[in-house]
Amino acid sequence: MEGEEVLFEAVCAPTYSADGVRTGMVTVMRDVTDLRRADQEVRANLEKLRAAEEIVRQDRDRLNLVIENVGDPIVVADNAAKIVMLDPLAKELVSFAENPKSPQVVKNQAKLDAYLTSFTFSFADKENKSVHLFNPGSGTEVEYAARSGKIYDARGQVAYTVTVLRDFSAWKKLEQLQLERRMLEMEKFAATGRLAGTIAHEINNPLEAIKNAIHLLGGTVDPKSRPIYDVLKTETERVTRIVRQMLGLYRNTVQLGTFDLNAVAEDTLALFGRPLAKIGVTVDKRLGQIPPIKGSADQFRQLLSNLVVNARDSMSDGGKLIIRTKEIRSSTGLHSWLSLIVGDTGTGIPADLQKSMFEPFVTTKGEKGTGLGLWIVKGVVENHNGRIKVRSTVGKGTVIRLLFPVSR
Ligand SMILES: Nc1ncnc2c1ncn2[C@@H]1O[C@H](COP(=O)(O)OP(=O)(O)OP(=O)(O)O)[C@@H](O)[C@H]1O
Ligand SMILES: [Mg+2]
Repeated sequence: MEGEEVLFEAVCAPTYSADGVRTGMVTVMRDVTDLRRADQEVRANLEKLRAAEEIVRQDRDRLNLVIENVGDPIVVADNAAKIVMLDPLAKELVSFAENPKSPQVVKNQAKLDAYLTSFTFSFADKENKSVHLFNPGSGTEVEYAARSGKIYDARGQVAYTVTVLRDFSAWKKLEQLQLERRMLEMEKFAATGRLAGTIAHEINNPLEAIKNAIHLLGGTVDPKSRPIYDVLKTETERVTRIVRQMLGLYRNTVQLGTFDLNAVAEDTLALFGRPLAKIGVTVDKRLGQIPPIKGSADQFRQLLSNLVVNARDSMSDGGKLIIRTKEIRSSTGLHSWLSLIVGDTGTGIPADLQKSMFEPFVTTKGEKGTGLGLWIVKGVVENHNGRIKVRSTVGKGTVIRLLFPVSR
Protein backbone atom coordinates (compact mmCIF):
# COMPACT_ATOMS: atom_id res chain seq x y z
CA MET A 1 0.00 0.00 0.00
CA GLU A 2 2.81 2.37 0.93
CA GLY A 3 5.02 0.99 -1.79
CA GLU A 4 7.49 -0.71 0.49
CA GLU A 5 8.47 -4.27 1.02
CA VAL A 6 6.68 -5.93 3.94
CA LEU A 7 7.89 -8.94 5.87
CA PHE A 8 5.32 -11.65 6.65
CA GLU A 9 5.53 -14.58 8.97
CA ALA A 10 3.59 -17.53 7.47
CA VAL A 11 2.12 -20.19 9.74
CA CYS A 12 0.77 -23.15 7.80
CA ALA A 13 -1.45 -25.93 9.05
CA PRO A 14 -3.01 -28.79 7.03
CA THR A 15 -6.77 -29.31 7.14
CA TYR A 16 -8.47 -32.71 7.34
CA SER A 17 -11.98 -33.94 6.70
CA ALA A 18 -13.95 -35.74 9.40
CA ASP A 19 -12.62 -39.10 8.29
CA GLY A 20 -9.08 -37.96 8.50
CA VAL A 21 -8.35 -37.23 4.86
CA ARG A 22 -6.21 -34.27 4.19
CA THR A 23 -8.21 -31.64 2.42
CA GLY A 24 -5.91 -28.63 2.14
CA MET A 25 -3.78 -26.15 3.90
CA VAL A 26 -4.55 -23.05 5.96
CA THR A 27 -1.92 -20.39 5.93
CA VAL A 28 -2.01 -17.42 8.30
CA MET A 29 0.13 -14.49 7.21
CA ARG A 30 1.32 -12.09 9.92
CA ASP A 31 2.95 -8.78 9.12
CA VAL A 32 6.17 -8.82 11.22
CA THR A 33 7.95 -5.91 9.56
CA ASP A 34 7.68 -3.70 12.67
CA LEU A 35 8.72 -6.52 14.93
CA ARG A 36 11.84 -7.18 12.88
CA ARG A 37 12.66 -3.47 12.77
CA ALA A 38 12.24 -3.19 16.52
CA ASP A 39 14.50 -6.20 17.00
CA GLN A 40 17.18 -4.68 14.79
CA GLU A 41 16.98 -1.41 16.70
CA VAL A 42 17.31 -3.13 20.03
CA ARG A 43 20.40 -4.97 18.75
CA ALA A 44 21.96 -1.75 17.41
CA ASN A 45 21.29 0.05 20.70
CA LEU A 46 22.83 -2.80 22.60
CA GLU A 47 25.97 -2.49 20.46
CA LYS A 48 26.10 1.26 21.09
CA LEU A 49 25.68 0.71 24.81
CA ARG A 50 28.54 -1.79 24.82
CA ALA A 51 30.80 0.64 22.93
CA ALA A 52 29.90 3.45 25.36
CA GLU A 53 30.57 1.16 28.29
CA GLU A 54 33.98 0.36 26.83
CA ILE A 55 34.79 4.08 26.47
CA VAL A 56 33.69 4.74 30.06
CA ARG A 57 35.81 1.84 31.28
CA GLN A 58 38.84 3.10 29.38
CA ASP A 59 38.28 6.61 30.77
CA ARG A 60 37.96 5.27 34.30
CA ASP A 61 41.13 3.20 33.90
CA ARG A 62 42.95 6.26 32.58
CA LEU A 63 41.65 8.39 35.47
CA ASN A 64 42.71 5.77 38.00
CA LEU A 65 46.13 5.63 36.38
CA VAL A 66 46.44 9.41 36.63
CA ILE A 67 45.26 9.45 40.26
CA GLU A 68 47.65 6.67 41.20
CA ASN A 69 50.56 8.44 39.55
CA VAL A 70 50.02 11.98 40.78
CA GLY A 71 52.50 11.25 43.52
CA ASP A 72 50.51 13.18 46.13
CA PRO A 73 47.78 11.79 48.37
CA ILE A 74 44.29 12.58 47.01
CA VAL A 75 41.10 12.57 49.10
CA VAL A 76 37.58 12.83 47.67
CA ALA A 77 34.75 13.54 50.11
CA ASP A 78 31.01 13.98 49.65
CA ASN A 79 28.89 16.99 50.58
CA ALA A 80 28.75 15.83 54.19
CA ALA A 81 32.57 15.79 54.35
CA LYS A 82 32.54 11.99 54.43
CA ILE A 83 35.49 10.45 52.61
CA VAL A 84 34.32 8.49 49.55
CA MET A 85 37.61 7.86 47.78
CA LEU A 86 41.28 7.73 48.71
CA ASP A 87 44.16 7.10 46.37
CA PRO A 88 46.75 4.55 47.57
CA LEU A 89 48.98 7.27 49.06
CA ALA A 90 46.11 8.85 50.99
CA LYS A 91 45.04 5.40 52.16
CA GLU A 92 48.46 4.98 53.76
CA LEU A 93 47.87 8.12 55.81
CA VAL A 94 44.50 7.20 57.28
CA SER A 95 44.69 3.40 57.49
CA PHE A 96 48.18 1.98 57.94
CA ALA A 97 48.06 -1.61 56.79
CA GLU A 98 50.13 -3.10 59.59
CA ASN A 99 48.38 -1.24 62.40
CA PRO A 100 45.00 0.10 61.33
CA LYS A 101 43.98 1.11 64.86
CA SER A 102 47.19 2.87 65.87
CA PRO A 103 46.79 6.20 67.68
CA GLN A 104 48.52 7.97 64.79
CA VAL A 105 45.89 6.68 62.35
CA VAL A 106 43.09 7.90 64.60
CA LYS A 107 44.83 11.28 64.95
CA ASN A 108 45.37 11.59 61.20
CA GLN A 109 41.72 10.73 60.54
CA ALA A 110 40.53 13.28 63.10
CA LYS A 111 42.73 16.02 61.61
CA LEU A 112 41.68 15.24 58.06
CA ASP A 113 38.00 15.11 59.09
CA ALA A 114 38.29 18.45 60.82
CA TYR A 115 39.91 19.99 57.77
CA LEU A 116 37.36 18.49 55.33
CA THR A 117 34.42 19.57 57.49
CA SER A 118 35.65 23.13 57.79
CA PHE A 119 36.25 23.38 54.02
CA THR A 120 33.06 21.60 52.90
CA PHE A 121 30.81 23.85 54.99
CA SER A 122 32.72 27.05 54.25
CA PHE A 123 31.71 29.49 51.53
CA ALA A 124 35.07 29.17 49.77
CA ASP A 125 35.35 27.36 46.42
CA LYS A 126 39.00 26.61 46.98
CA GLU A 127 41.24 26.30 49.99
CA ASN A 128 44.99 26.15 50.66
CA LYS A 129 46.00 25.24 54.16
CA SER A 130 48.77 23.40 55.87
CA VAL A 131 47.88 20.19 57.70
CA HIS A 132 50.28 18.26 59.89
CA LEU A 133 49.87 14.49 59.49
CA PHE A 134 51.88 11.53 60.62
CA ASN A 135 53.60 9.86 57.66
CA PRO A 136 54.02 6.11 58.25
CA GLY A 137 56.62 5.95 55.45
CA SER A 138 59.06 8.31 57.12
CA GLY A 139 57.76 7.66 60.66
CA THR A 140 57.58 11.40 61.34
CA GLU A 141 54.98 14.14 61.36
CA VAL A 142 54.99 15.92 58.02
CA GLU A 143 53.60 19.30 57.04
CA TYR A 144 51.27 18.88 54.06
CA ALA A 145 49.98 21.73 51.93
CA ALA A 146 46.33 20.77 51.47
CA ARG A 147 44.78 22.18 48.27
CA SER A 148 41.07 21.63 47.97
CA GLY A 149 38.36 22.43 45.48
CA LYS A 150 34.60 21.89 45.33
CA ILE A 151 32.75 20.02 42.58
CA TYR A 152 29.16 21.17 42.04
CA ASP A 153 26.21 19.22 40.66
CA ALA A 154 23.76 20.47 38.01
CA ARG A 155 21.70 22.32 40.65
CA GLY A 156 24.76 24.19 41.88
CA GLN A 157 24.99 22.23 45.12
CA VAL A 158 28.29 20.88 46.37
CA ALA A 159 28.55 17.27 45.27
CA TYR A 160 32.13 16.46 46.20
CA THR A 161 35.32 18.02 47.43
CA VAL A 162 38.74 17.00 46.12
CA THR A 163 41.83 17.53 48.25
CA VAL A 164 45.42 17.02 47.17
CA LEU A 165 47.99 16.83 49.95
CA ARG A 166 51.47 17.94 49.03
CA ASP A 167 54.41 17.09 51.22
CA PHE A 168 55.52 20.58 52.20
CA SER A 169 58.60 19.44 54.10
CA ALA A 170 60.26 18.19 50.90
CA TRP A 171 59.48 21.50 49.29
CA LYS A 172 60.83 23.38 52.30
CA LYS A 173 64.00 21.30 52.24
CA LEU A 174 64.46 22.27 48.60
CA GLU A 175 63.91 25.92 49.48
CA GLN A 176 66.45 25.66 52.28
CA LEU A 177 68.92 24.12 49.84
CA GLN A 178 68.28 26.93 47.38
CA LEU A 179 68.77 29.49 50.13
CA GLU A 180 72.07 27.93 51.09
CA ARG A 181 73.19 27.93 47.47
CA ARG A 182 72.20 31.56 47.17
CA MET A 183 74.14 32.48 50.28
CA LEU A 184 77.14 30.70 48.78
CA GLU A 185 76.70 32.63 45.53
CA MET A 186 76.44 35.84 47.53
CA GLU A 187 79.58 34.98 49.41
CA LYS A 188 81.32 34.35 46.08
CA PHE A 189 80.07 37.65 44.73
CA ALA A 190 81.15 39.30 47.96
CA ALA A 191 84.60 37.73 47.74
CA THR A 192 84.99 38.78 44.08
CA GLY A 193 83.72 42.21 45.01
CA ARG A 194 86.18 42.47 47.86
CA LEU A 195 89.02 41.46 45.56
CA ALA A 196 87.95 43.91 42.86
CA GLY A 197 87.47 46.56 45.50
CA THR A 198 90.86 45.98 47.07
CA ILE A 199 92.55 46.23 43.68
CA ALA A 200 90.52 49.33 42.87
CA HIS A 201 91.50 50.82 46.19
CA GLU A 202 95.17 50.20 45.45
CA ILE A 203 94.81 51.69 41.97
CA ASN A 204 92.92 54.67 43.30
CA ASN A 205 95.85 56.33 45.08
CA PRO A 206 98.33 56.34 42.18
CA LEU A 207 95.42 57.29 39.92
CA GLU A 208 94.72 60.38 41.99
CA ALA A 209 98.41 61.30 41.63
CA ILE A 210 98.25 60.80 37.86
CA LYS A 211 95.11 62.95 37.65
CA ASN A 212 96.77 65.72 39.61
CA ALA A 213 99.86 65.52 37.45
CA ILE A 214 97.77 65.72 34.29
CA HIS A 215 95.90 68.69 35.70
CA LEU A 216 99.18 70.47 36.50
CA LEU A 217 100.52 69.64 33.05
CA GLY A 218 97.44 71.18 31.45
CA GLY A 219 98.74 74.74 31.40
CA THR A 220 102.11 73.91 29.89
CA VAL A 221 101.15 71.67 26.99
CA ASP A 222 102.03 73.11 23.57
CA PRO A 223 99.29 73.01 20.92
CA LYS A 224 101.03 70.27 18.89
CA SER A 225 100.89 67.85 21.83
CA ARG A 226 97.35 68.86 22.79
CA PRO A 227 95.57 65.85 21.14
CA ILE A 228 97.88 63.46 22.99
CA TYR A 229 97.24 65.33 26.21
CA ASP A 230 93.47 65.11 25.64
CA VAL A 231 93.64 61.34 25.15
CA LEU A 232 95.64 61.09 28.36
CA LYS A 233 93.02 63.11 30.20
CA THR A 234 89.86 61.43 28.94
CA GLU A 235 91.21 57.91 29.26
CA THR A 236 92.35 58.62 32.81
CA GLU A 237 88.85 59.87 33.61
CA ARG A 238 87.48 56.65 32.18
CA VAL A 239 89.74 54.56 34.38
CA THR A 240 88.61 56.68 37.34
CA ARG A 241 84.96 55.82 36.65
CA ILE A 242 85.71 52.11 36.34
CA VAL A 243 87.63 52.21 39.59
CA ARG A 244 84.73 54.03 41.25
CA GLN A 245 82.23 51.32 40.20
CA MET A 246 84.59 48.66 41.51
CA LEU A 247 84.96 50.51 44.79
CA GLY A 248 81.18 50.50 44.97
CA LEU A 249 81.23 46.72 44.71
CA TYR A 250 83.65 46.55 47.60
CA ARG A 251 81.50 48.68 49.85
CA ASN A 252 78.31 46.98 48.82
CA THR A 253 79.05 43.42 49.67
CA VAL A 254 79.41 43.50 53.40
CA GLN A 255 75.92 43.81 54.84
CA LEU A 256 73.49 40.91 54.60
CA GLY A 257 70.16 40.90 56.39
CA THR A 258 66.57 41.96 55.95
CA PHE A 259 65.62 45.34 54.61
CA ASP A 260 62.77 47.40 53.27
CA LEU A 261 63.07 47.93 49.52
CA ASN A 262 60.68 50.88 49.62
CA ALA A 263 63.01 52.70 52.02
CA VAL A 264 65.95 52.06 49.66
CA ALA A 265 63.87 53.42 46.76
CA GLU A 266 62.95 56.53 48.76
CA ASP A 267 66.64 57.10 49.65
CA THR A 268 67.72 56.76 46.02
CA LEU A 269 65.00 59.08 44.77
CA ALA A 270 65.86 61.66 47.41
CA LEU A 271 69.45 61.54 46.19
CA PHE A 272 68.52 62.03 42.54
CA GLY A 273 65.49 64.28 43.07
CA ARG A 274 67.19 67.57 42.35
CA PRO A 275 69.39 66.57 39.40
CA LEU A 276 66.36 64.93 37.78
CA ALA A 277 64.15 67.98 38.25
CA LYS A 278 66.92 70.09 36.74
CA ILE A 279 66.71 68.31 33.38
CA GLY A 280 62.90 68.35 33.45
CA VAL A 281 62.29 64.78 34.59
CA THR A 282 59.29 64.20 36.83
CA VAL A 283 59.12 61.20 39.11
CA ASP A 284 56.05 58.95 39.11
CA LYS A 285 56.48 56.76 42.14
CA ARG A 286 54.10 54.11 43.50
CA LEU A 287 55.49 52.02 46.32
CA GLY A 288 53.14 49.23 47.37
CA GLN A 289 52.81 47.12 50.48
CA ILE A 290 55.75 44.73 50.29
CA PRO A 291 57.35 42.28 52.68
CA PRO A 292 61.00 42.76 53.67
CA ILE A 293 63.71 41.40 51.36
CA LYS A 294 66.45 39.08 52.53
CA GLY A 295 69.78 40.23 51.16
CA SER A 296 72.01 43.25 50.93
CA ALA A 297 70.43 46.70 51.14
CA ASP A 298 73.65 48.26 49.87
CA GLN A 299 73.63 46.11 46.76
CA PHE A 300 70.07 47.22 46.08
CA ARG A 301 71.05 50.85 46.60
CA GLN A 302 73.67 50.46 43.88
CA LEU A 303 71.26 48.53 41.65
CA LEU A 304 68.62 51.23 41.89
CA SER A 305 71.00 54.10 41.39
CA ASN A 306 72.50 52.38 38.33
CA LEU A 307 69.01 51.96 36.82
CA VAL A 308 67.94 55.50 37.73
CA VAL A 309 71.13 56.95 36.23
CA ASN A 310 70.53 55.01 33.02
CA ALA A 311 66.95 56.27 32.89
CA ARG A 312 68.14 59.82 33.53
CA ASP A 313 70.80 59.57 30.81
CA SER A 314 68.13 58.50 28.32
CA MET A 315 65.97 61.55 29.08
CA SER A 316 68.29 64.49 28.54
CA ASP A 317 65.34 66.54 27.23
CA GLY A 318 63.09 65.70 30.14
CA GLY A 319 60.46 63.02 30.63
CA LYS A 320 59.06 60.76 33.30
CA LEU A 321 60.82 58.36 35.62
CA ILE A 322 58.57 55.54 36.84
CA ILE A 323 59.30 53.62 40.03
CA ARG A 324 56.97 50.88 41.24
CA THR A 325 57.15 48.23 43.91
CA LYS A 326 54.51 45.64 44.67
CA GLU A 327 53.98 42.10 45.84
CA ILE A 328 52.57 39.62 43.31
CA ARG A 329 50.97 36.53 44.76
CA SER A 330 50.81 33.28 42.79
CA SER A 331 47.35 31.89 41.99
CA THR A 332 47.79 29.25 44.68
CA GLY A 333 48.66 31.89 47.26
CA LEU A 334 51.59 29.79 48.45
CA HIS A 335 54.35 31.82 46.77
CA SER A 336 54.82 35.43 46.01
CA TRP A 337 57.15 37.67 44.07
CA LEU A 338 58.34 41.14 44.74
CA SER A 339 58.25 43.30 41.67
CA LEU A 340 60.42 46.37 41.21
CA ILE A 341 59.94 48.48 38.10
CA VAL A 342 62.16 51.27 36.86
CA GLY A 343 60.76 52.87 33.73
CA ASP A 344 61.51 55.91 31.64
CA THR A 345 60.14 57.80 28.67
CA GLY A 346 63.62 58.16 27.21
CA THR A 347 65.38 57.13 24.02
CA GLY A 348 64.68 53.39 24.33
CA ILE A 349 67.16 50.60 23.66
CA PRO A 350 67.65 49.02 20.20
CA ALA A 351 67.02 45.26 20.11
CA ASP A 352 70.63 44.25 19.43
CA LEU A 353 71.90 46.34 22.33
CA GLN A 354 69.32 44.73 24.61
CA LYS A 355 71.05 41.42 23.99
CA SER A 356 74.51 42.62 25.05
CA MET A 357 73.91 45.48 27.46
CA PHE A 358 74.21 43.32 30.60
CA GLU A 359 77.75 42.30 29.65
CA PRO A 360 80.58 44.28 31.23
CA PHE A 361 82.01 47.29 29.36
CA VAL A 362 79.14 47.51 26.87
CA THR A 363 78.29 51.18 26.60
CA THR A 364 77.04 53.69 24.06
CA LYS A 365 78.08 56.62 26.21
CA GLY A 366 81.68 56.74 25.01
CA GLU A 367 83.92 58.49 27.47
CA LYS A 368 81.12 59.05 29.95
CA GLY A 369 80.11 55.44 30.55
CA THR A 370 81.95 52.43 31.89
CA GLY A 371 79.41 49.87 30.71
CA LEU A 372 79.50 48.27 34.15
CA GLY A 373 76.16 49.64 35.40
CA LEU A 374 73.84 46.93 34.07
CA TRP A 375 76.43 44.21 34.62
CA ILE A 376 76.35 45.08 38.32
CA VAL A 377 72.53 45.17 38.23
CA LYS A 378 72.56 41.65 36.79
CA GLY A 379 74.98 40.47 39.46
CA VAL A 380 72.81 41.83 42.28
CA VAL A 381 69.65 40.34 40.78
CA GLU A 382 71.30 36.92 40.42
CA ASN A 383 72.54 37.19 44.00
CA HIS A 384 68.98 37.58 45.18
CA ASN A 385 67.61 34.80 42.97
CA GLY A 386 65.70 37.33 40.90
CA ARG A 387 64.78 37.76 37.26
CA ILE A 388 65.08 40.68 34.86
CA LYS A 389 62.58 41.59 32.16
CA VAL A 390 63.26 44.39 29.73
CA ARG A 391 60.67 46.08 27.55
CA SER A 392 61.91 48.90 25.43
CA THR A 393 60.84 50.79 22.33
CA VAL A 394 63.23 53.11 20.55
CA GLY A 395 61.91 56.65 20.76
CA LYS A 396 59.37 55.80 23.46
CA GLY A 397 61.13 54.51 26.49
CA THR A 398 62.19 51.55 28.59
CA VAL A 399 60.66 49.52 31.37
CA ILE A 400 62.97 47.32 33.40
CA ARG A 401 61.15 44.95 35.69
CA LEU A 402 62.89 42.95 38.38
CA LEU A 403 61.20 40.04 40.16
CA PHE A 404 62.44 38.55 43.42
CA PRO A 405 61.00 35.49 45.13
CA VAL A 406 59.68 36.21 48.61
CA SER A 407 60.77 33.66 51.17
CA ARG A 408 58.88 33.87 54.44
N1 LIG B 1 67.02 53.15 30.42
C1 LIG B 1 67.80 53.13 29.33
N2 LIG B 1 67.44 53.82 28.22
C2 LIG B 1 68.19 53.78 27.11
N3 LIG B 1 69.34 53.09 27.01
C3 LIG B 1 69.78 52.40 28.07
C4 LIG B 1 69.03 52.37 29.28
N4 LIG B 1 69.68 51.59 30.15
C5 LIG B 1 70.79 51.14 29.52
N5 LIG B 1 70.86 51.63 28.28
C6 LIG B 1 71.90 51.34 27.29
O1 LIG B 1 72.69 50.26 27.75
C7 LIG B 1 74.05 50.61 27.82
C8 LIG B 1 74.72 49.91 28.97
O2 LIG B 1 74.24 50.41 30.21
P1 LIG B 1 75.17 50.34 31.50
O3 LIG B 1 74.44 50.95 32.61
O4 LIG B 1 75.65 48.95 31.65
O5 LIG B 1 76.42 51.21 31.12
P2 LIG B 1 76.48 52.77 30.94
O6 LIG B 1 75.27 53.41 31.48
O7 LIG B 1 76.81 53.03 29.53
O8 LIG B 1 77.72 53.12 31.84
P3 LIG B 1 77.73 53.37 33.43
O9 LIG B 1 76.52 52.71 33.96
O10 LIG B 1 78.95 52.74 33.91
O11 LIG B 1 77.71 54.81 33.59
C9 LIG B 1 74.04 52.12 27.93
O12 LIG B 1 75.23 52.67 27.41
C10 LIG B 1 72.81 52.51 27.11
O13 LIG B 1 73.11 52.57 25.75
MG1 LIG C 1 74.62 52.96 33.41
